Amino acid sequence: MSRQQATAIAHSNIAFVKYWGNRDQQLRLPYNDSLSMNLSAATTTTTVGFAEDLNTDRLTIDGEKHIGPALDRVSRHLDLIRLRAGIRLRASVQSRNSFPMGTGIASSASGFAALTMAAAQAAGLRLTEAELSALARRGSGSAARSIPGGYVLWHAGSGDRDSYAESVFPPEHWDLRDIVAIVSRRHKGLGSSDGHGAAEGSPLFAGRLAAMAETMSSLRGALASRDLPRFGAILEAEALSLHAVAMTGRPAALYWSPATVALMQQAHAWRAEGLPVWFTLDAGPNVHLICEGKDATALESALRNLDYVEAILANRVAGAAHLAPTLLTA
Ligand code: DP6
Repeated sequence: MSRQQATAIAHSNIAFVKYWGNRDQQLRLPYNDSLSMNLSAATTTTTVGFAEDLNTDRLTIDGEKHIGPALDRVSRHLDLIRLRAGIRLRASVQSRNSFPMGTGIASSASGFAALTMAAAQAAGLRLTEAELSALARRGSGSAARSIPGGYVLWHAGSGDRDSYAESVFPPEHWDLRDIVAIVSRRHKGLGSSDGHGAAEGSPLFAGRLAAMAETMSSLRGALASRDLPRFGAILEAEALSLHAVAMTGRPAALYWSPATVALMQQAHAWRAEGLPVWFTLDAGPNVHLICEGKDATALESALRNLDYVEAILANRVAGAAHLAPTLLTA
């Protein structure tokens, strides 16, 4: 056995009810359940090859070699997989993203989901979807939600084994679109890992968590009945709640740029004019505009008329992470 390799493709996801804060930072056990949809236009394809002739792990992302913190994080994740598989081989990891990294589109979600699936396969592990999701969570929390397909619920769980994500509806349940308005390609300030640590320092965090059961059950109800106005109202309030916590955390983080605020107000104006669109935001300045398929073309052309929008990324609801033939030489 000199080389064992596998390739996996995973979609990023946008959370409607968000993960913000860990009750166990090391295991990435979140304080609350979260719910997301997978994004069709935001994928990571990763090839992992374990080989006897490597004496360190190697990482290439979009053709660029990475050392330092990025490689360390990947190596720590590979250690979990090596431990489970009972192997000691080092790995070469080659990854390609279909979207720019560090812009608030969660490359860590699709990245760690694809890495987990490819590395587990290459290491000879045969894991269930729930086991893969729980393992992906250890690399990046939101990656747990990029293993299953469609609309996905991540159970906060009581420990490592039962904190995993599962599909609650397939992509066909509802043709929602996430049109991401990219207003800045610059790398964001406080990364989400540090953001999770800062949340507990916010006096608003306890209030956010106290409202969470109600937030989740009403959003799930609106998702089940495809009630967009109700869904959208909960969506916006939930994103603003996360940002209120971030803005008052220790350290505090303000992720918005003037264009972020302009777009949030624009969504309200569009609704007043009869275009049904609502926003959500991750830990970055870009705005995710959520609408139904029938309104996507109108929304995209309205966005193209705004000079402060640098680019748009139009997503449908996507399926689960999956293995693929290896095209790269790992
Ligand atoms: C705002 O999953 O990126 O996008 O576990 O430290 O990698 P780490 O954090 P990450 O946090 C995502 C935060 C969020 C909300 C969400 O996706 O639920």
